[in-house]
Amino acid sequence: MKYFIGNWKMFGVSKSANIIKKIIDYVKKDKKKSNYKVVIAPPYTLLQNFSKNFNSKFLSICAQNCHFRDNFSSNTGSISAYMIKELGVQYLILGHSDNRSEGDDEKKLSLKVNNALNNKMKVIFCIGENKKQKKLKKTNLILKKQLSKVLKFKMKSDNIIVAYEPIWSIGTGFIPKEVELKNTTIFIKKTLKKIFKSKKTPHVLYGGSVDGGNIKELRRIKEIDGFLIGGASKSYKKFIDIIKNYYRN
Ligand code: 13P
Repeated sequence: MKYFIGNWKMFGVSKSANIIKKIIDYVKKDKKKSNYKVVIAPPYTLLQNFSKNFNSKFLSICAQNCHFRDNFSSNTGSISAYMIKELGVQYLILGHSDNRSEGDDEKKLSLKVNNALNNKMKVIFCIGENKKQKKLKKTNLILKKQLSKVLKFKMKSDNIIVAYEPIWSIGTGFIPKEVELKNTTIFIKKTLKKIFKSKKTPHVLYGGSVDGGNIKELRRIKEIDGFLIGGASKSYKKFIDIIKNYYRN
């Protein structure tokens, strides 16, 4: 099963429902649809509307973050995994570099991941090195640390998806070299196998400047279980092109 997950970040108002409708129309008619799963993460303001109207076997709605405290608490402007789950939202992105750079450290992320899993949600856990770390050849070291500080053996690995998003590739138009990305994906899977001590490891996605053009290159890396798509997910045409070109003969 491959995943195509759109992260809208701070984009979208009610009329953006149109984008979701077009994507659902495409998936419904696609003969390849049993091979993949589409997930869209709109901002908090649209979760209730979209979850009620669009959550289906063709598309799932996802939240982009939550507070590290669960249930209810005194945190102005925040919402918890419990509150998101109550809307019927099954998926939750955690650890995105946008949020890490705004204070999401490993302690907070551990709490968030635990809260999401306790609420029986599926976590899309983002990891990735920055440009300097890559230059210093510290990618594997950083990824291993990001994974092992937060993901623990006792967690339900079935409900965890890991998204490798090199920070230097987000929104820049640059993607890693094929051999590098293949090796990094294999490294992440090996590390996850060690953490969960099992043969069945979480799916590993790639994210960062994915579009309808470079997907033809990215699809050659069979170890990648899907994609986390930012900019291109804001246009139904660009998003559908990614799926189309992934399966094109
Ligand atoms: P872009 O696809 O715009 O590079 O964003 C990737 C991303 O951050 C998805 O979470």
